[in-house]
Amino acid sequence: MSAGWHWFVVLGTLLSLAFMAWLLFANRHKDNKGTTGHSWDGIEELDNPLPMWWVGMFVASIIFMLLYVAYYGGLGNWDGGGNWSSTAQHDAEVAQHEARFAPLYAELGSISEGDLQSDRRAMQVGRRLYLNNCSTCHGVNANGAFGFPNLTDEEWQWGGDYQAIRTTLIDGRVAAMPPWGPALGEDGVVNMTHYVLKLSGQDHDADKAAAAKPQYDMLCVACHGAEGKGNKVFGSPDLTNDIWLYGGSEEQINFTLTHGRNGNMPAQSDILSEDKIHVLAAYIRSLSQ
Ligand code: HEC
Ligand code: HEC
Repeated sequence: MSAGWHWFVVLGTLLSLAFMAWLLFANRHKDNKGTTGHSWDGIEELDNPLPMWWVGMFVASIIFMLLYVAYYGGLGNWDGGGNWSSTAQHDAEVAQHEARFAPLYAELGSISEGDLQSDRRAMQVGRRLYLNNCSTCHGVNANGAFGFPNLTDEEWQWGGDYQAIRTTLIDGRVAAMPPWGPALGEDGVVNMTHYVLKLSGQDHDADKAAAAKPQYDMLCVACHGAEGKGNKVFGSPDLTNDIWLYGGSEEQINFTLTHGRNGNMPAQSDILSEDKIHVLAAYIRSLSQ
């Protein structure tokens, strides 16, 4: 914080404290002074001294605040004598937590993927790791959402075996479906949309689909395959079933083709230890079995 704000906070804090102390002592008196003179329909306000226990508490809380600020720091840029910071406390708690669970993860890390899946406790740990790290994007039940793949079905863009899932988690995945609006033109995209509808067995215009076939063979086969079954090397999905990442309606397919799509699964290697990824990969694998 800049020097100006530093002094603003310091003076603001100390002056308001001094003001409260002044308010207390300036209004304090020892004797009963009868009434304040205020009277409402015959009800009068007494002007008795403040009870000693109350004054004592007020003074004690002012002293407490001074000590608190001196220890924890609360005056602008001054750190306080206790060297306390919320970041350091958080780091210490995380380290303590990690140390407590290190033996558990080391043990789980040494169990094979297949055995992990039949270990109820390991799968519970996997579920918790999933809820903490993955559910914001893939959903609490891993059913996915628009743009976020369902992890419980049998379709995998990048591969659904243990190794492929592990690689997905460690390195992340960036899908590159190019935009085809410029190359195909508006009519070309409409025709291609019908070709994709045909591939997935939906109602379509046969003439339009037939018109797009040569372009599909030229532009799309490399990634989606001649049959439209997809390719796990590029993460290009199977277009022949009713599982869609971005929706299978005519409108949504048209949008996907015109503008392209770039799904991004963030790499987890900086966030999760290798043992945790091992448990997670086995857990994710178990969801679709
Ligand atoms: C360079 C490889 C590549 C090429 C070429 C390519 N695609 Fe794709 N396509 C992908 C990838 C990767 C995805 C997944 C995008 C994502 O996950 O964000 C995708 C997604 C799609 C989807 C969305 C599927 C869903 O589940 O929502 C459709 C439809 C599609 N492609 C059709 C086509 C058509 C038609 C062509 C040819 C005009 C084509 N693609 C060419 C790689 C490619
Ligand atoms: C910020 C959002 C986000 C988070 C957090 C996230 N993912 Fe993903 N994940 C995605 C997206 C988007 C894709 C699709 C990438 C693509 O289009 O190819 C994906 C893809 C995947 C895939 C590949 C699916 C396939 O069909 O091959 C797996 C497996 C996966 N995620 C598991 C996880 C796990 C486990 C976690 C928690 C450690 C996680 N994800 C956290 C967004 C996320």
